[in-house]
Amino acid sequence: MNAAPIGIFDSGLGGLTVARAIFERLPHESTVYFGDTARVPYGPKSPETVRRYSLEILQWLLAQGVKAVVIACNTSTAHALQALRDASPVPVVGVIEPGARAAIAGSHGRVGVIGTAGTIASGAYRRAIEARAPDFEVFQQACPLFVPLVEEGWFDHPAARLIAAEYLRPLREAAVDALVLGCTHYPLLKPLLQAEMGPDVRLIDSGEETARALEEILARNGITGAAGGASSHRFVVSDDEARFRSVGARFIGERLSGAEVVPLG
Ligand code: DGL
Repeated sequence: MNAAPIGIFDSGLGGLTVARAIFERLPHESTVYFGDTARVPYGPKSPETVRRYSLEILQWLLAQGVKAVVIACNTSTAHALQALRDASPVPVVGVIEPGARAAIAGSHGRVGVIGTAGTIASGAYRRAIEARAPDFEVFQQACPLFVPLVEEGWFDHPAARLIAAEYLRPLREAAVDALVLGCTHYPLLKPLLQAEMGPDVRLIDSGEETARALEEILARNGITGAAGGASSHRFVVSDDEARFRSVGARFIGERLSGAEVVPLG
């Protein structure tokens, strides 16, 4: 038993989709969420920069006494997972390994992966899938315009449909049977993406799989929170609390009543 909070971080507010999955799966766990809203987006930044930002956030979360760290950000997982594991005394869970496992379980061998420019260029999902299922074919597509669309709340806007059709065409032509939503923001576009890909393509939400992986890791390390115990959720951002609160409410609803501001760097 361990009542300490779980640290969750993202480049901004998209990671709240992962936080929501954790709240739902592990309702008795307390959390500290850090959104790096001063430095978002991570998608187009270099691996070195994303690693440096991620290590700074790790140190801040450790100073809050967290018992485990979840990297909710796909780009940060792609560029910094190993560096954070090397630097952390507590378990660190990323979103890519759980997402890759779910993709393999949900596909007959042709998987599409969509993500930011950084995540796709890193090839991290492709490697994670091919390492476990060498006979699988992986088709990747960067969708950098999806993040600003979601931030605008354009989940079903004609412009969003047009952009999705353009980005997803090669994946439809490749006849993938599963599509990994390899970015924190994409679960909010699920209805649009499903309509574009057709009903037979399974959408893989890394957030849900990550919550499951976290549950296993807490159990394995004997650091699960007390079942039935009270939980609390703290939200911290590096800038622009008001925007985080108003847009973030769309991601997780009323749980987000306010956030502290802690500038890093
Ligand atoms: N959180 C990022 C990810 O999941 C998306 C937003 C960004 O580019 O920072 O890759």
